Amino acid sequence: MLSSDRPLAVLLSRLRTEEKLLLAELERRHIRCAVLDTRSTVFRPDGPAAPYRGALAREVSHHRAHYAARLLEHSGVPVVNSAGTIALCGDKLLTTLALRAAGVPTPRILVGLTPQAVLSELPRFGLPVVVKPLVGSWGRLAARLTDADTAEAVLEHRAALPGAQQRITYVQEYVDKPGRDIRGLVAGQEILGAVYRSAGHWRTNTARDAVTSPCPVDDRLAGVLRDAAAALGPGVYGIDVVEDADGGLYVIEANHTPEFHGAAEVLGLKLVAGYVDYVLERLAK
Ligand SMILES: Nc1ncnc2c1ncn2[C@@H]1O[C@H](COP(=O)(O)OP(=O)(O)OP(=O)(O)O)[C@@H](O)[C@H]1O
Ligand SMILES: [Mg+2]
Repeated sequence: MLSSDRPLAVLLSRLRTEEKLLLAELERRHIRCAVLDTRSTVFRPDGPAAPYRGALAREVSHHRAHYAARLLEHSGVPVVNSAGTIALCGDKLLTTLALRAAGVPTPRILVGLTPQAVLSELPRFGLPVVVKPLVGSWGRLAARLTDADTAEAVLEHRAALPGAQQRITYVQEYVDKPGRDIRGLVAGQEILGAVYRSAGHWRTNTARDAVTSPCPVDDRLAGVLRDAAAALGPGVYGIDVVEDADGGLYVIEANHTPEFHGAAEVLGLKLVAGYVDYVLERLAK
């Protein structure tokens, strides 16, 4: 068990339903917490050791989460998810490479270091495809390219974006899914639960008003979720999976600070208990 003299740091800026549920569960277990708002916290790597027994990372901004976790780890504070996990899963290309290296099924991808390079190769790769930012959430700026004209227009716009990383162009084969995707929540090798997210739009994530319903976890889905989690290393993940017309399962991305309010509504609070169990176990190691 964690020694009780130092509090558990909880890194966040926005107190969403997920953070409220996690903090309530920690309080129920009498775990003393110190909420660190990443917008106002400063770190002193050359100063005294940070006074925390460990940290739970629930920061919504990828970059703040990553650097806060690195700084805490530098001063000897273990963080769940770790800085390495946050760096890996915050980048969709790095995530896909780790999954593919471990043999986890993912949609085919095409990557160009400029949008123009991808545009010239697209006819051979085949449409439709989805182009999405390497770093980003809630389906923002993800576009489905169904014809050559749209592809040209969207990729020309990407070429005009100001950030160097935004021009690295990551394209995924569009999987013709049955109006839904699957969000699996995994802690270590334990599956906390899975939900379908259904919508009329091709982007079916909860942030875009999808309807959430329980998804049965059969052996095949369990295998894909566990293999994906193992490929990414120890941590708590929200793993997004799509089914193709033949029932094949493909992992499209993994979230390092998963939202689960939709899943908790239909699966219940055991999800939150499982999340906290894992965090406390991991920090005790
Ligand atoms: N290759 C694909 N084929 C079919 N549908 C896709 C594909 N990629 C993404 N989608 C759809 O778009 C949604 C958003 O994609 P993705 O999860 O990769 O983006 P995101 O911005 O990280 O979203 P979030 O952070 O909310 O999970 C998915 O939930 C899915 O419905
Ligand atoms: Mg997603």
